[in-house]
Formats: sequence, structure tokens, C-alpha cells
Amino acid sequence: MATSEAALQVLSGAVPRLFHSNLRFNKSKPVFSFKSKVTNRSKRGSEYMQMLNGSRMLQKWRGVYALQCLNGVSYGKNAIRHLESMSCKCQLADSVGGITGEDENGTWLKGKPNNSTPILINGTANAPNGQDLEVAQQLKHKNEGCVSDATFASAETINDTFHRVSIDSIEDEAWNLLRESIVYYCGNPIGTIAANDPSSSTTLNYDQVFIRDFIPSGIAFLLKGEYDIVRNFILHTLQLQSWEKTMDCHSPGQGLMPASFKVRTVPLDGDDSATEDVLDPDFGEAAIGRVAPVDSGLWWIILLRAYGKCSGDLSVQERVDVQTGIKMILKLCLADGFDMFPTLLVTDGSCMIDRRMGIHGHPLEIQALFYSALLCAREMLAPEDGSADLIRALNNRLVALSFHIREYYWIDMRKLNEIYRYKTEEYSYDAVNKFNIYPDQIPPWLVGWMPSEGGYLIGNLQPAHMDFRFFSLGNLWSVVSSLATMDQSHAILDLIEAKWAELVAEMPFKICYPSLEGQEWRIITGSDPKNTPWSYHNGGSWPTLLWQLTVACIKMNRPEIAEQAVKVAERRISGDKWPEYYDTKRGRFIGKQARLFQTWSIAGYLVAKLLLAKPNLARILVNEEDSELVNAFSCMISANPRRKRSRKGKKQSYIV
Ligand code: GLC
Repeated sequence: MATSEAALQVLSGAVPRLFHSNLRFNKSKPVFSFKSKVTNRSKRGSEYMQMLNGSRMLQKWRGVYALQCLNGVSYGKNAIRHLESMSCKCQLADSVGGITGEDENGTWLKGKPNNSTPILINGTANAPNGQDLEVAQQLKHKNEGCVSDATFASAETINDTFHRVSIDSIEDEAWNLLRESIVYYCGNPIGTIAANDPSSSTTLNYDQVFIRDFIPSGIAFLLKGEYDIVRNFILHTLQLQSWEKTMDCHSPGQGLMPASFKVRTVPLDGDDSATEDVLDPDFGEAAIGRVAPVDSGLWWIILLRAYGKCSGDLSVQERVDVQTGIKMILKLCLADGFDMFPTLLVTDGSCMIDRRMGIHGHPLEIQALFYSALLCAREMLAPEDGSADLIRALNNRLVALSFHIREYYWIDMRKLNEIYRYKTEEYSYDAVNKFNIYPDQIPPWLVGWMPSEGGYLIGNLQPAHMDFRFFSLGNLWSVVSSLATMDQSHAILDLIEAKWAELVAEMPFKICYPSLEGQEWRIITGSDPKNTPWSYHNGGSWPTLLWQLTVACIKMNRPEIAEQAVKVAERRISGDKWPEYYDTKRGRFIGKQARLFQTWSIAGYLVAKLLLAKPNLARILVNEEDSELVNAFSCMISANPRRKRSRKGKKQSYIV
């Protein structure tokens, strides 16, 4: 009670307009249109075919909807490589060719050059400023060996040259593979397929464009200055958002983005010589387990902001339909429900871990993406009277969410010891053990595993339940988005360093630690044969996580951690044909059912390399700690009864 009241006071009183957006908003300027038509295929020919000109109005056809080329003639690559290329009159009304990228210098401010001070990323896409402190220069590879004798110098030089050549060829190969994975819609690049594995007999849905999988691809293209594919992806997936979707007569919320979509090339009715491209989205109604992808819309917002920051083209985020799309996602996430917690309540498998793994409730990954998306959206939302309530709700949620996660999800030696001594069954407003956690649920593995330096955010929090597993993506994105405090962020990286042998070992990066085994595995996964211990989502190692690790390390000015992880990956990843994931405790085997040539493994590696070479570009993904949010937050802390009985001692594990 006291907490939320304090937050409200801060938000409505002392800080009258906490947050400000300075985007220009030009309603009358549609900048993107396809000469495509929307068809109601069941009545094609007789029904009006609607031009898609930035409009969100689409018509329905038995659950599958088609965006059709003007002449219905198109081609795709890879997934539909067998189809002949034919000319298509689909085209972008305006070209993005002339867009120049924001100068990659320009926006970095750096504090003390030591590990305790993160790099501060300053400025917005509108107003790049700050001092270029040549961060890149500080990120040169450290000498690994201790050879100083001049006798070895020339041999070293030759070795270095060989090493560089082989690394360059890995990168070249990755770029070729990434380009080969591009999916075209009406002749325009629109996304990348999940995997391009010729050896796999069952495609399942790996021939589709997954929203979450495309993010590293999109970032790689942005960093390379190739903006069109990202722009097309953003605008076409936005149109899919308005699809009417149902499963067994039930419709999920309107703002839901699909998990994936496929470009189908189908014969054009009444014309045997022509085909048309249609987009066929999956919102979870066909996905294994029928789970709605909560993360898709959040990633979409994060990519939209990155696109604007990297390309300098703000016209996309300013479009009326894009603004509406952002608001629809926000409304869905901010809708009132039964919740007592500010965290998003979701079902199992609603994110990267898209199968049953016991992460239903309030999983950290979703909360970190939610927080990041709220901050990104706030930056992009045009100030207008109609959105005042939404922005107020957004601001309230940001404060409550960061307080909740920083306070209750954080765990380190000190906190673990506190939980170990918790009193239970406290009925009162000022209970210390608010969620009635029984100390016996501290898992035996954690007692030995927790390093004396370092800590992390736990996987999930529910009444009488803390999921103590370490989930990598949630922790890394909490660093990137500043959901974790600065001290917590450093502690997370400390833990990664301390637990290198378990989290990185022979292939970065473990999706979670430890795995579920025995009876726990049977009950929690439902005896899932794909999620056996140390495989797939259950403690498997996923190379794609390299890119999120890299952004987090760069943000905290500790890029050498990511550099080491990239070096580990480079030993095998290309020779192993870019697997989706690795199995075993140390990530030694290519995953039992892993796809090869998995696009986000390829793109994740490329993004890591590109960012390590130009660390200042990480700003397109990072959310800075907001000083006004910090103020609001400290008011909440001082109003929090638990804090009043504060823990004494010099060494606070984090500062809020
Ligand atoms: C698996 C992963 C999911 C990914 C999809 C496509 O289902 O769990 O995160 O998006 O494959 O690669």
C-alpha cells in the first residue's frame, strides 16, 4: 500500500510530467505504401480489393489472410527457392535508399575507465550529442599469452595473420548464410527464415520468419547500414497485428503480434500462369502447445526504436499506423487484471522458451523485455491528448516494475542468507517475507553455487515460490534495459565470470542453469523428450545469446567478457554448421534435435562481432537509467516499511 501510494504521489505531484517525448508527429504524411492489395480470397474478384496504403484495415479469409501483389507475381528465396523468379509490381512507394545512418561516433559519454563505471549512452535519435571518447580503441584484444621475447614476434605475427584470416572467413561465411536466409515478399526482403538446414527431414515451422529470431538478423542488417529489410519487416508484421485471430472460437487480445509468419506463393485464381505471395501468420494457434508469444510485440517495439536510432529515419515510428500499433501492444500489456504484482502474468512457453519449462507466472525474460519495451515506447510515442492516460499508466508501471524486480527478484549471498532465516506466515502490511517463502525451498545446488561476489535476478516469483534458476536472457536484458541497478548489473557480470565453466564452458551461452532432472523434469516439463537435462531449453547452450551478452557487456564497459565468449564460439560454430543449440553440461555436443544453419545463431554471432568492433553502436539497443525514474524509485524505497527496518552493514550488495 505504502509503496504504491508513494509512487503515485511522486508520479502525480513532485514530478508533474515525468517523461517527455520530443518526436515530431506528422499525421498527414504517409511515407510508406505498397502497391499491394488485400483480398478476401473466398470472394476474390467480386469483392473490393483494398489498397494497402499505410492502412490497418484488412479483410478476412477463413483464418488465413493474404496480402497480394498487384499482378500476383512474385518470388522468394530459400524457403521458396524452387519457385521461379518472376517480375512483381509490388513496390515501395518511397525509397529508404537515401537514408543516412546516424554518425556512429557522437553519442557516447564515458565515465571512469574502470569496471565500476558503465558507459553512459547519451542522446536520442533526434539529437545525437556527447563526446566521442573512442571507446573502440579501448576494446582491443588483450594479449592472451605472455610471450614478450622478440624471437617469437614474427611467429606470432604469422599466427595472428592466420587467425585473422580464419576469423574473417567465418564472418564472411556468416554473412553469406544470413543473406541466403532472407525471405522475400513481393520481391522485397521482409525477414529471415529460422533455419536453412538442408539435412533436416522435418521442417516443422523452421521455414518461417519468427519475430524473436529476426531481431538479431535485423540488428545485423541495421549495423551494416541495410535498412530496407528491417523497415519492411516492421511494417508488414504491423499489418499482421490487426489480423483477426481465433483459436477454438476464442480471440486473444488485439495487439498480439504473431510468433512467426510464412510467405506462401500460391497460384493466382483464374490465371494459371501467375502466382501471388500471401503472408500467413501464426499467433500460437498452430504452434506446438498453442502458446501466444508474449515477447513478439515487445521485441517489435525494441527493434522499431533501434531502426530509428540506427538509420536516423524517424518517419516510420511517426506514422499513424505505427503509433497505433505501439499503443495496441501497450494496451494489451497494461490492461487491468486481477494481478497484485506489476510484473506481466503469462503462461508457460510464451517467450524464447516456448515449451513447458515451469516458467509460467512472472518469468524474468518477459519482465525484462516488457520494461525495455515500455522505455522504448515512451521515447517514440507522440505526445497527444489521446495518449495521456496511456503514458501515465506506462510511467506508473515502469516505477512499480523496476522496484518489484530489483527488490524481490535479486539474489546474492547476503539475500540468500536473509531468505534462509526468513520467518514465515507473517500477516501484516509490513511483512519482511512478503511472499511467504519457506526457507526450505532454497535448492541445495544454490548454496554451493552462489559466488561470494556477484548475484543475479531469479527466474520467477509467485506466492510461496521463488524459481531460483538462473535464466540468461532475462538477466542479460535486465542489464541492457537498466531494469537491474548499476550495481546489480555489475554483479550479474561478476557471476557470469565466476561461473564461466558452467554458463559458457565450451559453447556460449547456457539458456538457464541448472537443468531440471528426474522427478522434477517429469513433473515440470511433462516428461518432454526434447527438454531432457542439459538439452534444448533445459540447460542447453544457445549461440544466439552471444549478442545479448555482448550488448550487456558493452553497456557495462566490460566488453572483454563478450570477447572471450566470442572466441570460445569461434572455435566450433562454423565447423559445426551453426547449430541452433548444444547439449550436455559443458555444451560439448551439437544438440540432439538442433537444426543446423540456424539463422539466429549466425546473426547472433555477427551482431556480437559488429558491436565489439564498434561498441558505441550498442546504444541503439540500450536503455539508460532514467534519472526521474530513479528519483521516483528512491521515494518508494523510503516509503517502504521493509526498508525502514533496513539491513545494516557497510557492504550493501546494491544501491537503489
Ligand atoms: C524454438 C525456440 C524458439 C525459436 C524457434 C525458432 O521453438 O524455442 O525460441 O523462436 O525455435 O527458431
